[in-house]
Amino acid sequence: MDQLIIEGGTPLYGTVAISGAKNAALPLIAATLLAPGLHTLHNVPDLRDTRTMLKLLEILGARWERQGKTVRINSDRLTGAEAPYDLVKTMRASVLVLGPLLARSGFARVSLPGGCAIGARPINFHLKGFEKLGVATRLEQGYVEAAVEGRMGGGTVYFDIPSVTGTENVLMASAMAQGETVIKNAAKEPEVGNLVDMLVAMGAEIEGKGTDRLVVHGVDRLHAAESTIIPDRIETGTYMIAAAAAGGRITLTDCTPAHLPALTEKLLFCGAAIETTDDSLTVSCPEIDGRNICHPCSVDITTLPYPGFPTDLQAQFMALMVLGNGTSIIHETIFENRFMHVAELKRMGANITIEGSRAVVRGIGRDKLSGAPVMATDLRASASLVIAGLAASGATTVSRIYHLERGYENMVEKMQALGAKVKKVRE
Ligand code: EPU
Repeated sequence: MDQLIIEGGTPLYGTVAISGAKNAALPLIAATLLAPGLHTLHNVPDLRDTRTMLKLLEILGARWERQGKTVRINSDRLTGAEAPYDLVKTMRASVLVLGPLLARSGFARVSLPGGCAIGARPINFHLKGFEKLGVATRLEQGYVEAAVEGRMGGGTVYFDIPSVTGTENVLMASAMAQGETVIKNAAKEPEVGNLVDMLVAMGAEIEGKGTDRLVVHGVDRLHAAESTIIPDRIETGTYMIAAAAAGGRITLTDCTPAHLPALTEKLLFCGAAIETTDDSLTVSCPEIDGRNICHPCSVDITTLPYPGFPTDLQAQFMALMVLGNGTSIIHETIFENRFMHVAELKRMGANITIEGSRAVVRGIGRDKLSGAPVMATDLRASASLVIAGLAASGATTVSRIYHLERGYENMVEKMQALGAKVKKVRE
């Protein structure tokens, strides 16, 4: 297994380009199952998760090829309708094939994902949504079987909590339903908007993009189209926090600063300066004795659906708050077990207490964090440990970095380009 060795204490300087968003690429790849033909997706990040999704499409009968950042998918002939346990257990987002398979062929069999490192994460909202469209679902030997006679009907789907992949699954299922589907309390994440744009390019009729009420007027058929994956706002945010924690001045290109309203606000409060254009941003720490160093002011955050503070940046922001000048309360409201990084950060000297869904982070100032061997437990927790390692004094070894490779394209190379002393070695 590979490990990362990080020699901390070096501020970051330079420019890196942000990749396409993992959480937009996954539903857009799944959406190519909706219509036969040759689909073209641009700006597709080459990640463990996107490779898993493409492998799943192959199992279902689609063919694909990658040329640089462009992936062409031919879904003319589908030969299967099952997402096997082996794939779903490595990537829960495999459930995104349910909606398109139901719409295209009226049947899908997908392994029910189990719990994961960050919470139970059921898919009951997805299934309830399909049922509103006339789909019958049942659980059979660990698999969800969903079937509909003929075309799905329209209906009204209300989400108790605005589920991102739930909204995406119902959008894809309803695009070719007979009649109108209204999704209430829909997720407003930019990745959902990216999927709406792709479905519209394929011939779907959808109103309400970016709002919590989506109206889908079912059409008879969809066609293959060309789409572009939006920039990864979580990757962008991770590098922004890394710069605030390690110090320095970095520019991120090919990103969408407007997709990070909550993080931007919090980083400004912490003392970082942020300059933006439509598709780039520069984060810089105040200059002290010729070095750009941030002594972050502690600030509270509460994770919320978009445009609130993203749960996918909570762990990374906590690493920054460990360096703070006071106490920060970090309230995680989306997932019930997303504090796995806390025990690892404490090994580096962090002072954190967990009280239910809140973590109380007492800042230790920037000079007291020390490198240590730590273990990655999930994707974003791993990124948090990398950030802590960059800010700490001495060496940090992060093991189990396969988690990182699920969602960060070329992180080691990008960090090295910013001057970080990071290298990947075999354990
Ligand atoms: N929920 C249910 N039932 C459902 C669906 C969701 O109870 O049927 C609950 C979840 O347990 C959670 C809340 O609703 O408490 C919101 O979960 P959501 O469904 O929005 O999460 P998701 O769609 O499974 C996506 C991202 C996650 C990200 C969350 C929240 C993808 C592929 N994944 O997951 O990304 O954390 O939205 O923003 O889009 C990551 O990239 O590291 C990651 C975990």
